[in-house]
Amino acid sequence: MVKTCHFFQRELVAQPADSRLLSRHVIETEYWQLLLLDSSISGKVAGEITPADINWLCERLSSCDKPALIALHHHIVPVDSDWIDTHMAENTESFWQHMAPFEQLQVVISGHTHQEQVRLRQGVTVYSTPSTCYQFKPYEDDFSYDEHALPGYRWLQLANNGTVASWVERLDT
Ligand SMILES: [Fe+2]
Repeated sequence: MVKTCHFFQRELVAQPADSRLLSRHVIETEYWQLLLLDSSISGKVAGEITPADINWLCERLSSCDKPALIALHHHIVPVDSDWIDTHMAENTESFWQHMAPFEQLQVVISGHTHQEQVRLRQGVTVYSTPSTCYQFKPYEDDFSYDEHALPGYRWLQLANNGTVASWVERLDT
């Protein structure tokens, strides 16, 4: 199905969220604050960062000045592929405006784009990560699989001094 049914021909069937899942979650360690957001919109490919999410992020970042990471599914800077950039998280400009005062925000990481990229915005390193299944071809304006890219995942190494190292591991077969 994945290979034969074109993306735009698919019908997306909304599923109710599992009530056990949290839409916002914080993991505070001795040296870092990790802020986890559910950016999904039920039944849609695109996601969103809601005003309530932004308020929550601002509250958390105001009350803790440890180096911070935000993780969410949908990408919040374009990856320069028109077709998938139309399915970014909505409300990203408001997100970036509100994040500007928080110099401790070091990293944003997302998936959704099924490809590996690294960007920098407002001093924040923005990672996208490969998919653990099929990959999309980078810098293509029309939907396109990357037949040569293997499934992969991204490692993050968060150092005690607030610096970050990250790399991608690809499967062998
Ligand atoms: Fe996705």
